[in-house]
Amino acid sequence: MVDGNITKDAMYDAVAPDDFVSMLELDRYSNRSSAFDRIISATHDHFWDPLDTRYIDFSEPFDMENQALMPEEMFPALKTDYVQSALSDPKDRIRFINESTRWSLSSILHGEQGALNLSASLCHVLKDQGAQEYAANQAREEARHVTAFAKYIKARWGTPMACGPVLQNLLVEIIGAPEVYKKIVGMQMLVEGLAMGAFATFFTKTNDPLMKKLMQLVMTDEAFHHKFGKIWADRTVPKLTTEEHAIVEDWAAHCFQTLLFNLVAPHQQKPMYESFGMDVDKVMEELQLIATDDFRREEMKESANIFRVLIKTLLNAGIITDRTRGFYGVYVDMEELKAEGDVMVGDAIAEEGIKYLQAINFKQQTHPRLVAAE
Ligand SMILES: [Fe+2]
Ligand SMILES: [Fe+2]
Repeated sequence: MVDGNITKDAMYDAVAPDDFVSMLELDRYSNRSSAFDRIISATHDHFWDPLDTRYIDFSEPFDMENQALMPEEMFPALKTDYVQSALSDPKDRIRFINESTRWSLSSILHGEQGALNLSASLCHVLKDQGAQEYAANQAREEARHVTAFAKYIKARWGTPMACGPVLQNLLVEIIGAPEVYKKIVGMQMLVEGLAMGAFATFFTKTNDPLMKKLMQLVMTDEAFHHKFGKIWADRTVPKLTTEEHAIVEDWAAHCFQTLLFNLVAPHQQKPMYESFGMDVDKVMEELQLIATDDFRREEMKESANIFRVLIKTLLNAGIITDRTRGFYGVYVDMEELKAEGDVMVGDAIAEEGIKYLQAINFKQQTHPRLVAAE
């Protein structure tokens, strides 16, 4: 019989989301784990505030009409004959790139809202106070990401785009799931892993200095969220039975496929294509013509590639076995990935960002401190 939460370590012990009474057990108060203490206390080092211009200034302008936010090679659809002929005017191509970027950043905004609600939901199910304090801290950090992406989108486009149905269903599923493994694998490993890859790519490729700054600031927090998932995996995966391992592995593959689909399937961006007078079925047809295995691998080669980080996380955590290896192998060379070791692509960017934040956070306070009630 498999425990629904797949708990292998006391610090991930969990109760049902509506079982607050279990939180009042007296023994619980003296059993706080120390596994998360370092990441909890590090939150002061990478504190930032999206409403404070010492950290980031959302009034920095960008010429949206004449300049593309991202380089053309980021958009495989632009390589199809159909999309190319629909966008013969260079200004239309810029508008297409910028609208596609709006769609991606809107997905990130919805993902951040998902991460906020998910980490809050972890506080309701995890029994360990250390794990709860970690999750509460993460909820607070995700809240500033929601504010920051909402402000960036407002500054560049006015409003975000609606969440694609596939991403929406995944977020609803993991936030509502009572099973801890589903939440941690789905959000902390998959969505956060995808986010690190996506942020690293946006950071490296964008032509907008404001977007670059935003990505780096968010990454200083996300690098730690990713670590929470890694701690869970390190303490859980080696102890799984064959049956439990299969459940976790299949769940990871399900989440991966959903996220991939959200990112590449033009159907998820139907309103965006329609606003350019394009038929998504036709775009999909032509994308399939150019999406050979070689093309996909070529696109994934770059180390900052979005899915590479994600697959690497799962591989290093021991979640991928021969059962699903072939599925991920379509996108990356698994042997090459294994040989790269533990270093994650976003880590260097996050570290540099933390140094920047420490310089602001620990500079002599010149501003009078605001009191809490103000
Ligand atoms: Fe976040
Ligand atoms: Fe996060």
